[in-house]
Amino acid sequence: MAEQDVTMEKIVNLAKTRGFVFPGSDIYGGLANSWDYGPLGVELKNNIKQTWWKMFVQERLDMVGIDAALIMNPKVWEASGHVATFSDPLVECKKCHERFRTDHLVTPGTDLAKTPCPSCKATDWSEPASFNLMMKTWLGPKEDATAVAYFRPETAQAMFVDFPNVITASRKRVPFGMAQIGKAFRNEITPGNFIFRTREFEQMEIEYFVHPSQWEVSFEAWLENMYGFMDRVGIDRSKTHNLEVEKDELAHYSKRTVDIEFDYPFGRKELYGLAYRTDFDLSTHAKHSGENMIYTDPMTNEKYVPHVIEPSFGVDRTLLAVLLSAYHEETVTTGSGEEDTRVVLRFKKEIAPIKIAILPLSKKEELSSIAQPLAERLAKKWRVDYDETQSIGKRYRRQDEIGTPYCVTVDFDTLNDQAVTVRDRDTMEQVRIPLLELESYFAQNL
Ligand code: GAP
Repeated sequence: MAEQDVTMEKIVNLAKTRGFVFPGSDIYGGLANSWDYGPLGVELKNNIKQTWWKMFVQERLDMVGIDAALIMNPKVWEASGHVATFSDPLVECKKCHERFRTDHLVTPGTDLAKTPCPSCKATDWSEPASFNLMMKTWLGPKEDATAVAYFRPETAQAMFVDFPNVITASRKRVPFGMAQIGKAFRNEITPGNFIFRTREFEQMEIEYFVHPSQWEVSFEAWLENMYGFMDRVGIDRSKTHNLEVEKDELAHYSKRTVDIEFDYPFGRKELYGLAYRTDFDLSTHAKHSGENMIYTDPMTNEKYVPHVIEPSFGVDRTLLAVLLSAYHEETVTTGSGEEDTRVVLRFKKEIAPIKIAILPLSKKEELSSIAQPLAERLAKKWRVDYDETQSIGKRYRRQDEIGTPYCVTVDFDTLNDQAVTVRDRDTMEQVRIPLLELESYFAQNL
């Protein structure tokens, strides 16, 4: 079986036609860089988030979760430094008036004045300026300075602000961590590349609190854990790389950051970030709020502000990397000896949006009277699809294209032998399984 390269065009097209991701507000001509997750996309996204939550919260005794408000007191963002410094450098082409991020146009050592505008090729640039990425709104009926609030640009801050409440309520002891999954908003200058960079996106973040002397050990452990997660959701390790962020490029809160990059079809770019945030956040919130963020070790009575290791994951970039890793296009030989192309998403079974497709060979009542109740029974345990139209070959291909690990065919032999054919997505092998054994077969294999 020969394999073809995956391109963004193929992924975006498949995502739309099969119902993973659609352009947002499509019937009104869309809204630039806004995307909606369709019936399969929402299943895939939920499975990714559930796997993350299970792995980093439920399976660990040193972690707790929170789900905080999206709009927080604006003082949070003043204290965190976001209002003053969460900005990107922006330049405008004086000829076509398009705006770009300066750091996306020039690399160290190259000169902006000699860099042509990607849109009109002119080299007449405005002075670089700072553009704040915070998404602003007003709370209540008055649109004045007293009512200004911000949609959170990261989920992280709530975990610092809630630190005193969480530690009192959960009685956790350092080292321990907090996790949160939720939406974040940034007024990005140059969103694009499908769901890679958008203004509304979702994050899965952990703030892990440690004794200051333990940060390096914890940093290395979390880097390993991040790769463990990528393996679990099926992100191709051979396409990932660690980038040690240069000292002069570190965010204002970080002493060390490693970006995990991924080879997307549009280039090698950030997938996740791992940062050592020191005690910056707890200390700054202590200073601005007056709240005590000092932790007392119950064994030694030592008092200190815990330091923080932050593994940060984008949900949408995870989904994109998962799709790109799962996509395979193969040339296969059909039963009649002809060559055909098979597109298959080789999702890990744990995150496949549909686990089992029930496909009666024909729409005849004698088959659907077995297949329909079977689908309903299995749907109580797994996400099931039921499809009885088109040829069986086309239905298999459709399920391959959406990454369904197993197809179950109910055929006329089923009426006599009370068994069904189970087809494996990856090997395309088919086995005959008695109806009575089907649930235990899937319990073992899924
Ligand atoms: N709390 C740290 C933080 O937010 P970040 O590197 O700015 O760090 C973390 O963001 C992750 O969130 C990124 O690695 C990426 O996966 C995701 N992310 C950031 N900006 C995004 C955007 N505009 N669109 C989609 N995902 C984004």
